[in-house]
Amino acid sequence: MRKLLEDAAQRAISYLEGIDSRGVAPLPEAVARLAVLDEPLPVEPGEPAMTLKLLDEICSPATMATVGPRFFGFVIGASLPVTVASNWLAGAWDQNSALYHVTPATAQLEQVALRWLLDLFDLPRECGGAFVTGATMANFSALAAARHAVLSNAGWAIEADGLCGGPPITVIVGAEAHPTLIKSLGLLGLGRNRIIRVPVDSQGRMRADALPSLSGPTIVCTQAGNVNTGAFDPIGEICEIAHRAGAWVHVDGAFGLWALAVPSMLSLTAGLADADSWATDFHKWLNVPYDSGLALVRDADALCAAMAVTADYLPTASPVRNPSDLTPELSRRARGVEVWAAMHSLGRRGIAELVERNCRYAKCFADGLQSAGYRVLNDVVLNQVLVAFGDAEETLQVISELQTEGTCWCGSTVWQGQTAMRISVSSWATTDNDVERSLEAMLRIARQRVRQR
Ligand SMILES: Cc1ncc(COP(=O)(O)O)c(C=O)c1O
Repeated sequence: MRKLLEDAAQRAISYLEGIDSRGVAPLPEAVARLAVLDEPLPVEPGEPAMTLKLLDEICSPATMATVGPRFFGFVIGASLPVTVASNWLAGAWDQNSALYHVTPATAQLEQVALRWLLDLFDLPRECGGAFVTGATMANFSALAAARHAVLSNAGWAIEADGLCGGPPITVIVGAEAHPTLIKSLGLLGLGRNRIIRVPVDSQGRMRADALPSLSGPTIVCTQAGNVNTGAFDPIGEICEIAHRAGAWVHVDGAFGLWALAVPSMLSLTAGLADADSWATDFHKWLNVPYDSGLALVRDADALCAAMAVTADYLPTASPVRNPSDLTPELSRRARGVEVWAAMHSLGRRGIAELVERNCRYAKCFADGLQSAGYRVLNDVVLNQVLVAFGDAEETLQVISELQTEGTCWCGSTVWQGQTAMRISVSSWATTDNDVERSLEAMLRIARQRVRQR
């Protein structure tokens, strides 16, 4: 066993040490070699060392270097080395972190991390928190609590009696809500199409003045951090209107919630704490390994009512927090370990610096591109930049060539009818030099395209 695990550690270390000297996207030849894996299930047991060798030799070159410093696609954080190391240790522990009584160490780490997070974000300390796979499930979990609360206020027990025959719930979202939030609403039986979509402004912010009049069981879903522009809905204003009508306000803050950790971003985050529930990711801006996200609910009892299970063989009656009383799953990996490790090692200042640094780099990209004559389509308020290099065809061509060239990796989007390249700066590993090198590659490729025309 020792040899195998040491071999795995060595291979992982070599992979991480080599990340800066390879192209960000895997080479087509490496991707083609994945076909080697497509073999029949071996009949006889084999040598574990050979299994690991195959995994590393075939798969490592075919990975996207998202853990490196110049991946700017989607919103993808790298993994801090301390979180990779903690993940290895937690993997060795293999704790099923459902019940404190059974897995006290990992339940305690989650509990401490939750306390630190509420303190860091300055959100109500009584919040219930569920450590889940990511923002999709965080939205799902928080909205399950919302569904419980608004129906319970209307005298309906959703968990016992289901949605059929119960009072209808009005669900309001901004026209720019993330598609996974809409998916969560569908999973909860609230319908993907029966929701009311409120118009947004040029940055994708829900217009508070365009909210419909609210009455009866209502959930308003807001957003802190638009996946394209980084913009925040006017959440304080929306909370004021919604709470007057007794509605529940939820915030999808998959990455934007981390602005709460930065004192200089107060103007962006004002009113965020007035909401009733929040969803965020750890695998984005806290830079922990996949998969890791968090649902926070002011009324912890509503989250428990939506999620807790009881059975004779499960010792759930406990004076301490049982993680599975708050999550959709019973059995689950100890994802709180890496969250705790990241927070313990970065501290309050380190987290704020990471977020601030990424936002500063986003501004550098926007300034550099704008000075070279390219059109930046959004107000860069966070870590997201949208740039057009001309019409849709020209922009997509630049993106494709940039991805092939390998210095960095950016994806595409269509923002309010305009095709753009998205730059999302979310990695702890990105440095000034990485921004300079990436900007140089973007400009070189964009200029070459113009010369070729
Ligand atoms: C605003 C927003 N909400 C939800 C999600 C979904 O997050 P995840 O993929 O971690 O489930 C994302 C992903 O980028 C996002 O930006």
